[in-house]
Amino acid sequence: MSEIASSQSAGAGVLVIAAHPAIAHSHVNRPLLKAAQSLQAPPAAARVEVRDLYRLYPDYLIDVAAEQAALARARLLVWQHPIHWYSMPPLMKLWLDEVLAFGWAYGPGGTALRGKDLWLVASTGGPEESYRPDSYNRYFFDAFMPPYEQTAALCGMRFLPPMLLHGAHRATPQQVAEHARVYAERLARYPDWPELDDMDPCPECEVPADVRPLPDDATAEAA
Ligand SMILES: Cc1cc2nc3c(=O)[nH]c(=O)nc-3n(C[C@H](O)[C@H](O)[C@H](O)COP(=O)(O)O)c2cc1C
Repeated sequence: MSEIASSQSAGAGVLVIAAHPAIAHSHVNRPLLKAAQSLQAPPAAARVEVRDLYRLYPDYLIDVAAEQAALARARLLVWQHPIHWYSMPPLMKLWLDEVLAFGWAYGPGGTALRGKDLWLVASTGGPEESYRPDSYNRYFFDAFMPPYEQTAALCGMRFLPPMLLHGAHRATPQQVAEHARVYAERLARYPDWPELDDMDPCPECEVPADVRPLPDDATAEAA
């Protein structure tokens, strides 16, 4: 049995959530998206699902039930997007707001994502040297990661080391093609990644049951 087939039987579903507001003009994320989509064909088809948010939801009306069902099938969740304002594009943020719901993804009873892995695959316009205290982005790129890391932790997911392409505008076609090749290979091989063996488990972030007041009708019933 091939490595890919054996991880398939281990139930290692991969869900790629891709978000680019202008994919037709993309130099980097478009080839990455195509590389991921190529895995939706056999032999990886059964376990790699790619959801291109701006194509699925041009009206920003996210089908939360469909997204949650896709998440339930996956063990690896990938967020693939260009960095916009040191963060994610707006439809991706809306996806988090609506899909990662209280009582489903986090909080009391919110265990749907527990034990899964989250992998950020992102590109920046700024070159790596610009992400330094003495340059125009002023901070090392890691300084922008805590909101991603903590979102993963609150939902009980391990935050895997991101795959980044800095200086996207100046990347040569060969560099982009190689990046896309490595990306697809890693998606196909998950969870057979050597670094996963040495990773710490996700920290416990239990939200107390009383963090939100009960809705009025529940209070009346309890009284
Ligand atoms: C609205 C907007 C905001 C951006 N913000 C950042 C940023 O905060 N940091 C950065 O390095 N690049 C930023 N960029 C550049 C993008 O990250 C870059 O164009 C993208 O990674 C290139 O990927 P693509 O070829 O797939 O479009 C921004 C671009 C846009 C359009």
